[in-house]
Amino acid sequence: MKTIGVLTSGGDTPGMNSAIRAVFKEGVGRGMSVMGILHGYKGLIAGMIRQLQHEDVANVMHKGGTVLRTARSEEFKQEEGFCRALDMLRAYDIEGLVVIGGDGSYQGAKLLDDAGIPTIGLPGTIDNDLGYTDFTIGFDTAVNTITSEIYKIRDTMRAHDRVGVIEVMGRNCGDIALWSGVAGAADLILVPEFPIPWERAAKQLVNNKIRGELSSIVIIAEGAGRAEDFAKYVRENTDVEIKAIVPGYIQRGGNPTAFDRVLAARLGQRAVELLSNNTGGRAVGIRNNQIIDVSLEDAIKTPDHFDEKLYRFNSVLAKF
Ligand code: ADP
Ligand code: F6P
Repeated sequence: MKTIGVLTSGGDTPGMNSAIRAVFKEGVGRGMSVMGILHGYKGLIAGMIRQLQHEDVANVMHKGGTVLRTARSEEFKQEEGFCRALDMLRAYDIEGLVVIGGDGSYQGAKLLDDAGIPTIGLPGTIDNDLGYTDFTIGFDTAVNTITSEIYKIRDTMRAHDRVGVIEVMGRNCGDIALWSGVAGAADLILVPEFPIPWERAAKQLVNNKIRGELSSIVIIAEGAGRAEDFAKYVRENTDVEIKAIVPGYIQRGGNPTAFDRVLAARLGQRAVELLSNNTGGRAVGIRNNQIIDVSLEDAIKTPDHFDEKLYRFNSVLAKF
């Protein structure tokens, strides 16, 4: 392949820039031109495409967000928009494509691959909700951000004998809640994978208080409910004083951790390696610290893996 393209799609994640840089470096190293497609599939349809230069990926490794920008595009899901996207790839002689995004972006990547443009998916989502890979780019950074917030919140909650319920991202996935909850020694973690009746959760907070543990930290994944709703329920049904905290987008931005930068670099490198062998239709990931690739179809189909053992371990600890 002489010319390949790269785009970021869906929610941005810290570490996407490292992946873009790796695709560029590996591509140029193999004598390819690397085209940057701006604003995801939306920009592809609009022809927002230009050849990447060294300056585009210099000094970006440590930055959150994505230098290519990202977007969601309903138009791409329609036949007309999709055909225009294909025409654009052909007009720019893009023979292979790297799509950095989550499962929605992978659906689009598979369609492009099926239509004859070899396409590789890289897992870019802070949610860690792609089951074929142990980790997605940005998850580690989000967990670290939330973990450090937990300790700040804990200080002030403890000073007032209050409970803090912190809502973290994870549309259908409790991984950010679980990992930051374990790392931040949360008393209770609420995730969509193991729904706990709020009555039981509230009772645990009351028991904590009776035991003399006047301040507790609860982490709730957005897929398990809203922090404000949980706080309201607790206020209405117990004498526990509780505050809801929603850190929001701070967990999707900021400097990527070294782990995310290195992971993204390794994944980006493999993506170009595959394309240079004329291989498309694959999703790259990491399993047992080995970079692997599976078919895009399997990547989309593989159910998300939730670490039940770690979840139960935290519940046991929280009782004592
Ligand atoms: P993520 O990739 O983070 O899961 P989205 O689900 O929002 O984010 O998907 C990003 C974009 O991928 C969508 O805006 C759309 O353009 C494209 N996409 C999502 N689902 C499909 C689909 N079933 N077919 C084609 N394209 C899709
Ligand atoms: O997919 C990542 C994610 O951060 C989810 O956890 C969250 O529900 C969603 O994106 C929010 O995205 P936006 O507000 O950009 O639509």
